[in-house]
Amino acid sequence: MRPFSVFQLVWACLGLFLVTCEAFATNEEYALSAFKEAINEDPLLVLSNWNTLDENPCDWSGISCSMAQDHVLKINISGSSLKGFLAPELGLLSSLRELVLHGNNLIGVIPKEICMLKYLRVLDLGMNRLLGPIPPEIGNLTSLMKINLQSNGLMGTLPPELGNLKYLEELRLDRNKLQGFVPGSNNSDFTSTSHGMYASSWNTTGLCRSSQLKVADFSYNFFVGSIPKCLEYLPSSSFQGNCLQDNDPKQRLTPQCGGAPPAKHRSGVNPNNRPAQDGTKHQATLKPISASKPAWLLALEIATGTMVGSIFLVALLTALQRCKSNSSITYPLEEICKR
Ligand SMILES: *[C@@H]1O[C@H](CO)[C@@H](O)[C@H](O)[C@H]1NC(C)=O
Ligand SMILES: *[C@@H]1O[C@H](CO)[C@@H](O)[C@H](O)[C@H]1NC(C)=O
Ligand SMILES: *[C@@H]1O[C@H](CO)[C@@H](O)[C@H](O)[C@H]1NC(C)=O
Ligand SMILES: *[C@@H]1O[C@H](CO)[C@@H](O)[C@H](O)[C@H]1NC(C)=O
Repeated sequence: MRPFSVFQLVWACLGLFLVTCEAFATNEEYALSAFKEAINEDPLLVLSNWNTLDENPCDWSGISCSMAQDHVLKINISGSSLKGFLAPELGLLSSLRELVLHGNNLIGVIPKEICMLKYLRVLDLGMNRLLGPIPPEIGNLTSLMKINLQSNGLMGTLPPELGNLKYLEELRLDRNKLQGFVPGSNNSDFTSTSHGMYASSWNTTGLCRSSQLKVADFSYNFFVGSIPKCLEYLPSSSFQGNCLQDNDPKQRLTPQCGGAPPAKHRSGVNPNNRPAQDGTKHQATLKPISASKPAWLLALEIATGTMVGSIFLVALLTALQRCKSNSSITYPLEEICKR
């Protein structure tokens, strides 16, 4: 084998690796493979073409990318019976506008890393089996226009930080196990006045600040207290099935509202943590990119590297041997390559 062809091979390999790395943001590809890895059942095989050897994840099902095909703008995988956890690495999809995973069997908590997606406009995790609280950090997602978390097992109180979402138009929280007050405003004077009147002159927290809110559903939870005045424009069905002090006959009966909501944890899952059997795999931290590659890919790369390396070495030694026998002058390496 001539050393020339080996060099061509080496450069071709190197070029190939560089091209695949540059086409698409590496950490976003890592985030998507972490998402797939955290899904342990995919009966409809919707993630079957999510193959990390593919040149571009933009062709994967449920993914929409930017014009330049370098960032993920949208994930929509609805009604696909996906079972598994939400990978915290989703927080790395820094350009994401829409995350729609409605109607699957997602379990575990909503990772607070999702609240790093500052361009997110639609968050739809409705009709899943998510547990735990709504992270207060959701108030950081100031571009959010739609939140749908309906029909899950979410617990805890509603973070008043929801009021930071000034573009919020739609908030569906019905059919969970949420409790505490519906955060309107923390100022009792404010709640007795009409919506928006004091919005500019009072420091308020809570949903009275979300002036764009048009659709909101709080029904079938365990909310207590009264309906905030600024939300009275919503239909009463938006509040039914709770423990509100209201003359609405459609509230829960007192025994159901006695203490805490019935804490029927599905399959013994601790709402604040990921289940123990999965604890090591899904620590809610973002691993550095270097640790991201699946083992088989790494093995393949090492194998390829070793092979190319040894071919190169053998060729080089052969070339040197030939040079030595041809003449007594030792050429510098560059000279050998040019021949
Ligand atoms: C998501 O995809 C489904 C079909 O797979 C479609 O019906 C739905 O409108 C999409 N949702 C969004 C927000 O794009
Ligand atoms: C996100 O929200 C939390 C709690 O609401 C806050 O402490 C934190 O500073 C926020 N982070 C950013 C980057 O805005
Ligand atoms: C109400 O909001 C003000 C200003 O943000 C704050 O100082 C006060 O502690 C809050 N009161 C309650 C009861 O949360
Ligand atoms: C809101 O509260 C901040 C500090 O908490 C204060 O500096 C500011 O003047 C308040 N604004 C109004 C309109 O009351």
